Amino acid sequence: MNRIIIAMLLFFPCALNAQEKNEEKGIRNMDAILLVTFGTSDPEAKRAFANIEKLARDKFPGYEIRWAYTSEMIRKKLARKGEILLSPEEALSKLKEDGFKNVYAQSLHIIPGEEFHQVVMLSSKFKDSFDKLVISPPLLNSMDDVRKSVRIMLSKIPSDRRKEDAVIFMGHGSGKHPSDMIYVAAAYAIEKSDDNAFLATVEGNPTFDEILARLKEKKARKAYLLPFMSVAGEHAKNDMAGGEPDSWKSLLTKNGIESVPVMKGMAEHDEIVNIWLDHLEKTITK
Ligand code: CO
Repeated sequence: MNRIIIAMLLFFPCALNAQEKNEEKGIRNMDAILLVTFGTSDPEAKRAFANIEKLARDKFPGYEIRWAYTSEMIRKKLARKGEILLSPEEALSKLKEDGFKNVYAQSLHIIPGEEFHQVVMLSSKFKDSFDKLVISPPLLNSMDDVRKSVRIMLSKIPSDRRKEDAVIFMGHGSGKHPSDMIYVAAAYAIEKSDDNAFLATVEGNPTFDEILARLKEKKARKAYLLPFMSVAGEHAKNDMAGGEPDSWKSLLTKNGIESVPVMKGMAEHDEIVNIWLDHLEKTITK
């Protein structure tokens, strides 16, 4: 008998879910924040996610904070390594199962593109599952967000850069989605602030070829390359700074332009994370 009680005492605390734990601590919170990202399989890039989570916990104490990865490819890749990440749908089902009433899903995407709209579509499927389920917009949701983000990212250019050195930010781009235009808006804001700084994208507009032509026109000899993506993951490592003949670095070298890659994702900068978290705060208090 005693042994059973001891076993129960040992086991029971682990069986408490976060909501019950909060209730025990006197916080009656049935609110959850779901951080929804494309995802990354890069252990180094994960630093950025840890940073977002830390800042979110500081800003929203008492909230349950969970993650969802929109990229099936990345979830599968991680599952093969034994790391289980949930899709937004799975994460919402789990939150429902665990009895959360209000769920605020913060999109950690850059633009309100395909991935973001998938999450928005999901929310109608779950509308009867919660008292409240709100999807909070991604980083660049207004021209003001674009200006702010660009200002922050321009301040991250290494200080040894001389005026004549070019800078190219690598955005993802989303060629088939109307939100691709936001990258063009960001490129405009960048060039307006610094006439030797540009933005090009991997899969949309502006294209790298356009920007390479501009650099050649300007007779640039050196270019700093910075990701305009949440993490310095596969695209930054391979398409931007990799050794393959079609990487930006190789294409620049081929054109006599020395390149200096800066391997730091946007989500590693607290000021950028705070834009996402400001969106979240507005969503929660609205
Ligand atoms: Co991609």
